[in-house]
Amino acid sequence: MEIPENNSLGDAEKGMLRNDAFNGKTIIITGGGTGLGRAMGTYFLKLGANLVITSRKLKVLQKTATEMETETGGKILALACDVRHYEEVEKVFQEAVAKFGQVNAVVNNAAGNFISPTERLSANAFSTIIDIVLKGSVNCSLAAGKYWIKEKMPGNILNIITTYAFTGSAYVVPSACAKGGVLALTRSLAAEWGRHQIRTNAIAPGPFPTKGAWERLLPGEMAEKFDFKNRVPLKRVGKQQEIANLAAFLISDYSAYINGDVITIDGGEWLQGAGQFNGLEMVTDEMWDGIEQLIRAAKGS
Ligand code: HXC
Ligand code: NAP
Repeated sequence: MEIPENNSLGDAEKGMLRNDAFNGKTIIITGGGTGLGRAMGTYFLKLGANLVITSRKLKVLQKTATEMETETGGKILALACDVRHYEEVEKVFQEAVAKFGQVNAVVNNAAGNFISPTERLSANAFSTIIDIVLKGSVNCSLAAGKYWIKEKMPGNILNIITTYAFTGSAYVVPSACAKGGVLALTRSLAAEWGRHQIRTNAIAPGPFPTKGAWERLLPGEMAEKFDFKNRVPLKRVGKQQEIANLAAFLISDYSAYINGDVITIDGGEWLQGAGQFNGLEMVTDEMWDGIEQLIRAAKGS
């Protein structure tokens, strides 16, 4: 499987925040061994954070941790944890505090997803996705909130959702339901836990090529036939450093007054699909000449 190349992004590729922006902070990223979780984690390390990466596959996490350490020189704790099980999540917090002294932020990034006509799904297939995405995000947020409130510490929750959390989407219905739930969780906790100085925000990414997503959403020849960049007004997919920049901003003190928001990073993709006349980009200049004449002629009729 080939991950499409992106254009160069100039300064955005170098990262956005001050190099010491996360000094002394400990950040947990679920699903941190692969894809976007790995990209965000690598950038957080470059900004001075202590990083905890978790997922089900310890070997993948350990390999990623070694590579991240070589690249950044940062401190990483890799822990196996299935976010569906609250007791495993609580253990991550205990081990993170034991190693780094505290936890300051959690990124709910772990997810499960695949395309399928909904009527082909078993009840277990549907609930597997709900459990990983919604229950997993609930479990990590609950463990984090209990810990921060007990310790009287400020905290920061960042949820990775998708744009179809607000539009819905065919063929990924369990994921759409779960991500919609995580959006409600984001706004609800922002209102309830704001008084404890716990901020909760979300990022809604459009298409960012990763192995995990592309193998399950665009398997085989679908990647060529259904090229996501054609759906995006900017005519390209996202670059991982772009999401890392946004995530770092939302976790950092530079966004200290942002709470309960969801920031879309999709090159305009979902709006392109929504606007009734957006498909008219197919109309050529010559066709517009004819259309204009017809419309002007209608004035006199
Ligand atoms: C129908 C399927 C299926 C398929 C699995 N199932 N694949 N049903 N079509 N293609 C069914 C199984 O038969 C089973 O039901 C149930 O789903 C659970 O499957 P398991 O394999 O037992 O589950 P598990 O081992 O927990 O694996 C979870 C998984 C897997 C989601 C199925 O793909 C996974 O581990 N994914 C993690 C990574 C991932 O999904 N990354 C992509 C995120 S991308 P029965 O009834 O048989 O027991 C993303 C991007 C969104 O979210 C937006 C992009 C633009
Ligand atoms: P990915 O590499 O497949 O990441 C998903 C991660 O979740 C994996 O590391 C996986 O690791 C972990 N995970 C799955 N089930 C888990 C469980 N039960 N417990 C703990 N960890 C679990 O895919 P990605 O593209 O980087 O996706 C990252 C996030 O971005 C997801 O929330 C996804 O919905 C979101 N997103 C991605 C895109 C995109 O275009 N890529 C677009 C919109 C939103 P293990 O298998 O080791 O558990």
